[in-house]
Amino acid sequence: MEARELTAERLLESSLRTSYDPIVEIDWSAPPEPGRYWLPPERSSLYGTPLWDGLTEEQRIELTKHEVASAASAGLWFETILMEMLIRQYYDSDPTSRHAQYALTEVADECRHSIMFGRLIEAMGCPVYPASPFDHALGRWLKATARGPHMYASILIAEEILDSFQREIMGDDTLQPLIRMVSRIHVVEEARHVRYAREELARQVTAAGPLRSAYARIVIARAAYSIAGRLVHPRVYAAVGIRPRDGQAAARANPRFQETLRWSASRVSSYLGDLGLVRGPARLLWSRAGLV
Ligand SMILES: [Fe+2]
Ligand SMILES: [Fe+2]
Repeated sequence: MEARELTAERLLESSLRTSYDPIVEIDWSAPPEPGRYWLPPERSSLYGTPLWDGLTEEQRIELTKHEVASAASAGLWFETILMEMLIRQYYDSDPTSRHAQYALTEVADECRHSIMFGRLIEAMGCPVYPASPFDHALGRWLKATARGPHMYASILIAEEILDSFQREIMGDDTLQPLIRMVSRIHVVEEARHVRYAREELARQVTAAGPLRSAYARIVIARAAYSIAGRLVHPRVYAAVGIRPRDGQAAARANPRFQETLRWSASRVSSYLGDLGLVRGPARLLWSRAGLV
């Protein structure tokens, strides 16, 4: 209990020092800079395929813009689920504890992030790319019921996968300034969320019995599968004149994109693996998702 309060206390102090209001910090009216990508081109799902070779430079930039909009839509969707899960946890906790107070602080961060991602999609002039009806329903179930190990593990998967892309984006000065700024704000605040979830998950895994752990492994793997599949919506390809099902098939078969997916999940899959959460039948789902 001591360690839990100490971590929450440190995270609250850090939140006081470095928190951003993206509505104020970002110049939302600045036009995009011509010729700049939104993602490093080699992270595009089609990079290195014949379909990519057939695109003009302008179309390639356009594709990375829609891929960013798709990832931001996924981020938004998951943040909504996350906020509800944290609020449900708070409902049962001691409001004078630092741990509970940090949960609320994290919800406050996510409120600002979701507004930021909404503004980003709008500023890029892209549509919101929704979850499939099945994943939408699964998300509704997760946010209404998840607690314990699978709640924190699914939080970590979504946060750490997105974080891998955003760390790379914020360090690449050839990219669009808008996406670099959005990424920087998100990375700084998410580092606290990752720490909070990682430590809490480790405590809950220790406390969970074998039956609960087996159940958690399956739900976690299914969440990983949804998050990975959700990253690039097939309709992004239509923005550059490629049939969604052709684009999706090419991306799935693209060894460079397979490598990108594994790279993006490498930190979280090894952490969850060390906790014993990526084994047995669940591991099959992780590998079908292309994450291990
Ligand atoms: Fe966030
Ligand atoms: Fe977060």
